[in-house]
Amino acid sequence: MSVLPIRAYGDPVLKTKARSIGPDYPGLQELIDNMWETMYKAAGVGLAAPQVGKSIRLFIIDATPYAEEDPSLMGFKKVFINAGIIRESGKAWLFNEGCLSFPELREDILRLPEIRLKYQDEHFQSFEEDFSGLAARIIQHEYDHTEGTLMVDHFSSLKKTLLRKKLANISKGIVPVNYPMKFSPRKK
Ligand code: NI
Repeated sequence: MSVLPIRAYGDPVLKTKARSIGPDYPGLQELIDNMWETMYKAAGVGLAAPQVGKSIRLFIIDATPYAEEDPSLMGFKKVFINAGIIRESGKAWLFNEGCLSFPELREDILRLPEIRLKYQDEHFQSFEEDFSGLAARIIQHEYDHTEGTLMVDHFSSLKKTLLRKKLANISKGIVPVNYPMKFSPRKK
C-alpha cells in the first residue's frame, strides 16, 4: 500500500463532478487500499477519490475517532461507491468541520442532521440506508467531494472574504502540513 498525495484547494479536480464507476474500474481495490493508508496517515475520518486526483464517485469513512462523542460510531468503517443522497431532513445544525484538502482550516458548517443514502459497497452490493448525526455529517462532507462541492462553497460571502488570504495561501502551499500534498500550479 502507498500513501497518495492529497490535492489541495485550488486543484480543478476538486471542483469537478465525479463520474460513477463499475466493478471493472481498473485497480479499484488497490486504490481503496491506498486511500485508507492515505487517510490514516493524515489522521482524517474521511477521504474522497477526487482528493487523490481520481474524479470518480468513491469515498471512504472511518468515524471511530468520534466514538468517544458518539458510541454508535465505534467501528463505523465503510466504503461508499456511486452514492446518492435521496433526501435530507431535520433541523440544520452547526458542526466544526475540517478537510484534508484545506490544512489548518476548521469552520462551522450548517447541515441537516438526517439523510437517506443509496450507495454501493466495495463489492458493488447496493444499499439504501438512513444515517444521522455525525455519521450523516461525515457522509455529507465526503459526498460533497464527489459533487465537486467544497467546504468553501458552504461559507457565507463574508466568511469567504475574511478567509481570502488564508485560502489563497492553502492553494499556493503556504501552509504547514504533516502529510503528503499536491498543490496546483497557479494560473497566470
Ligand atoms: Ni474534505
